[in-house]
Amino acid sequence: MNIVRLTYASRLSRDCGPDALGKIMAVSRRNNKKLGVTGALCYSPRGFLQILEGPADTVNELYNRIVRDSRHSVVTLLEYGPIPYRDFENWSMAYVRADEIAHALLRKFSTRHVFDPFEMGPVQAHGFLIAVAQERSDFLAKQQNALRQRNG
Ligand SMILES: Cc1cc2nc3c(=O)[nH]c(=O)nc-3n(C[C@H](O)[C@H](O)[C@H](O)COP(=O)(O)O)c2cc1C
Repeated sequence: MNIVRLTYASRLSRDCGPDALGKIMAVSRRNNKKLGVTGALCYSPRGFLQILEGPADTVNELYNRIVRDSRHSVVTLLEYGPIPYRDFENWSMAYVRADEIAHALLRKFSTRHVFDPFEMGPVQAHGFLIAVAQERSDFLAKQQNALRQRNG
C-alpha cells in the first residue's frame, strides 16, 4: 500500500484549554505507534501545523478523526500525496512549540518572524517541520550525552 504524507494547518478553538496539548500528545504517541503513523506537530497560539505519514487508509481515517476534534477549527489541508519514504521515521509524533524555535529557522522557511501555519505553503511547511524535528533530535542527543558523561 502507498505511504502518504498529509499536511494541514488549523486554528485553536475555545475548547483547547491549558491541559489540551499534553492530552493530544499522549493520545497521538500511543495511537500512532500502534497505527504505524509518524509525523510532527507544531503548536503556537496562532494554530497547529501537522504532518502525518503512513499507510494511505490509516492516514485518511486518522485525519477524518482529527478534523472533527473540537479543540481546533478551520482545519485546512495543505498537501496530500504518496511519498517514496518517511521523513519522520523515528517519531510517532515529534512535538515542537513555536516559541522554542530559533528565529533563523523561521526566517528560512517563512516571510514572517512569528510562526503562523497559514502563512506557509506545503513545501515550506514540509521543510520547516523536518528542520525543527532535526533540531529536537540534536537537542535530545546532546542531553543524553551530557547525562551519560555526568553518570560516568
Ligand atoms: C491538533 C491535533 C492533532 C492531533 N493529532 C493526533 C494524532 O496524530 N494521532 C491521534 O491518534 N490523535 C490525534 N489527535 C486527537 C484526535 O483528534 C482524537 O482525539 C484521538 O485520536 C482519539 O483517540 P482515542 O479514540 O484513542 O481516544 C489530534 C488532535 C488535535 C486537536
